Amino acid sequence: MTVDELLTGLYSEQGRQNPYPWYAGLHRLGPVSAVPARAEHRTVAAVAVGYDLVDRLLRDPEWTKQPPPGWEEQEILRAFQTSMMFVNPPEHTRMRHVFAHTFTPRRLDALRPVILRVVDDLLDRMADAGDTVVDFVADFAYPIPALVMAEFIGIPTAELAWYRERVERIDEFLDVAGKTPQRLAAANTAAQELRVFYRELLAHRRRAPTDDLLSGLVEALDAGGVELTEEELVSNLIVLFNASFVTTVYMFSNGLPLLLAHPETVAALPTDDALARGCVDEVLRLESPVHFLARAAPADTVLDGVPVAADDNVLIMIGAANRDPARFPDPDTFDPTRPGPPSLAFGVGLHFCLGAAVSRLEGRLALPRLLARFPALRVTETPTYSGSLFLRGIDELLVSTSG
Ligand code: HEM
Repeated sequence: MTVDELLTGLYSEQGRQNPYPWYAGLHRLGPVSAVPARAEHRTVAAVAVGYDLVDRLLRDPEWTKQPPPGWEEQEILRAFQTSMMFVNPPEHTRMRHVFAHTFTPRRLDALRPVILRVVDDLLDRMADAGDTVVDFVADFAYPIPALVMAEFIGIPTAELAWYRERVERIDEFLDVAGKTPQRLAAANTAAQELRVFYRELLAHRRRAPTDDLLSGLVEALDAGGVELTEEELVSNLIVLFNASFVTTVYMFSNGLPLLLAHPETVAALPTDDALARGCVDEVLRLESPVHFLARAAPADTVLDGVPVAADDNVLIMIGAANRDPARFPDPDTFDPTRPGPPSLAFGVGLHFCLGAAVSRLEGRLALPRLLARFPALRVTETPTYSGSLFLRGIDELLVSTSG
């Protein structure tokens, strides 16, 4: 099959549900394939799927993120382009520095009891509900990252449902097939509403500071100790919270069916922390929540025999690289004790996920407790995936807590 046919298959409804046969087809063509000039998918010059090449491109600071044309006109794109995730050095270095300081090992340690409290409350509620069939996403996978990050940042939990609707509109626009005028308009409105929301919250923390991230940031901003404008601070908060929860929801919801298909793992997990770490990493490799990144070439170049012109974008398929048979023998098999290179689920290089340690800790603490409490947990219906390939995951997962 040609690249164009493989990409058409990948973007189809069937491909979105199960992209892996298409990724295997792309791997057979080589670590990178040119997208022909007249092909339907020529928004990028090439697609990279090989682990080593993807790793190299992401680590190379010369390969940059390109702002989309006309970004100044769109509220959502303005928010992105004034936040660390979407910009290049030196702006990236300056903004990341401010936030990297807030994700210290000490703060991570302080999150441990928060995570345990949130998880145990949710498990109590699931047990008390008495229903044996529950939606694992609504009752467990979604509230953990939402409540933990809301407490960490300082977002009132009463606002979370309102907030989530805005995040969904932004995520729909971010999908590869999401760039429709309707989705852009919805994402613009969502970004505008979130900006007003954060401005009010920051003003509130100015008047009545607490010990959350928002209070610390606004205090540092007002004291001139932070190299950020208030607009940039708000943009980064929008991106930070957005990045933190749907991804982690999918770590749990994509991971549970994989774990439950391995009864020996389920039985050992509650008392084996090393296994819990391995499970989290293997789930993220096999069912990565984020499948695509993109970078632009710094100059005319040739990647493994494929010419790429300066400024051309290359689609970097981390979801495919994580199943590269050259780096992960038997790549479709779940093996939490697998040796070998780390997965690229959190990216790598300059933009390596700022919250990787937070998500890993949430997974490592929550999954053993879940399976200790409900050892007979069982998926009752074959789940469907979100339909997005940028953020790929299960939005509803019915499970029986009593076997
Ligand atoms: C399992 C959960 C998660 C996954 C799979 C994930 C994935 C990623 C990936 C692939 C990137 C790299 C983007 C790029 O190179 O263009 C990234 C960046 C980022 N992530 Fe995560 N993420 C997760 C959880 C989180 C959490 C919990 C937070 C916040 C606490 C977070 C905040 C960020 C931020 C701020 C960046 C941008 C960093 C930069 O540009 O320097 N993520 N994430």
